Amino acid sequence: MARILTGIQSSGIPHLGNLLGAIIPAIELSKDPKNESLFFIADMHSLTTIRDAALLKENTFATAAAWLAFGFNTDNNIFYRQSDIPEVCELMWYLNCLTPYPMLANAHSFKDKASKLHNVNGGLFTYPVLMAADILLYDAEIVPVGKDQIQHIEMARDMAGTFNHTYGETLIEPKATVDERVMIIPGTDGQKMSKSYNNFINIFLPDKKLRKTIMGIDTDSTAMEDPKDTETCNVFSIYKLLASPEDIAIMKANYKGGNYGYGHAKQALYELIITKYAAERKKFNELMENKNLIEDELQKGALKARSIAQIVLKKVRTKIGY
Ligand code: ADP
Ligand code: TRP
Repeated sequence: MARILTGIQSSGIPHLGNLLGAIIPAIELSKDPKNESLFFIADMHSLTTIRDAALLKENTFATAAAWLAFGFNTDNNIFYRQSDIPEVCELMWYLNCLTPYPMLANAHSFKDKASKLHNVNGGLFTYPVLMAADILLYDAEIVPVGKDQIQHIEMARDMAGTFNHTYGETLIEPKATVDERVMIIPGTDGQKMSKSYNNFINIFLPDKKLRKTIMGIDTDSTAMEDPKDTETCNVFSIYKLLASPEDIAIMKANYKGGNYGYGHAKQALYELIITKYAAERKKFNELMENKNLIEDELQKGALKARSIAQIVLKKVRTKIGY
């Protein structure tokens, strides 16, 4: 049995890119009975950029609601909130003391954030150490991540290796897996869909607002009567990720045939989203209106996660001489 672990920051309501690129594939992976999955909301990592307590809380609930709405099975797996397991901070300190300063200073993601952000805090610098603690605290073997996170997993491996070399075999060296099949989902402007580019589609919005987002997808000025190019169209590139092969073929024919405007294509995409995700949208909104249900799920997960964390931490404490 492989223990799979991954975290997702609670930096906003998960958008279509997060769902198709991370959440849905992770839930699929968790359905294999050979695996045990630990998925958590990295609300302590989010603190490196979010200082509004109400917003942090709301984002955490929204992120959890999205996982639950898309059917993550919390009975067979472990679903929790990072900040509910304070043991992670203790392990982080031990790892901090074993981590060379240049390793952190050279991290791509730190250099990138430090060059862009106005507030470069210590949390951004030690971000990979907290992430390593997240992984090593649960003896995780496999960590599914996006390409941008591979270096962080390599650092976690290095930290486990250094610990083991110093104190004897204790921590499991995790491996990153990157699902090459997962595509970069384009946003409403054709760039990678991202919270930071404000080009995302939040499928959980009420109908009218969701329709407004879809109607706002950037398109060129080809006249309504003229044939249109599916290859360069932002509406089509999102539609084809969601529609059945038959519907994609029909949409292609519509584009080629002319007398089919971008407004028609956008309406079709909107209808597809509300039909395809009707159950998930309903469930998400029910959960957000009854946050105690989300809280109960997170507390159930915290109990399970904590019992693993305490065993690993006890081994670590003994090894370091406490
Ligand atoms: P954002 O860019 O919106 O801030 P995050 O960096 O928080 O998103 O990503 C959370 C997860 O969602 C990561 O696993 C990331 O690889 C995945 N993800 C984000 N945007 C996309 C996208 N446009 N296409 C595919 N996967 C994505
Ligand atoms: N840093 C990851 C991201 O932004 C989120 C994360 C935090 C994570 N801790 C983790 C991912 C541990 C995998 C394992 O996407």
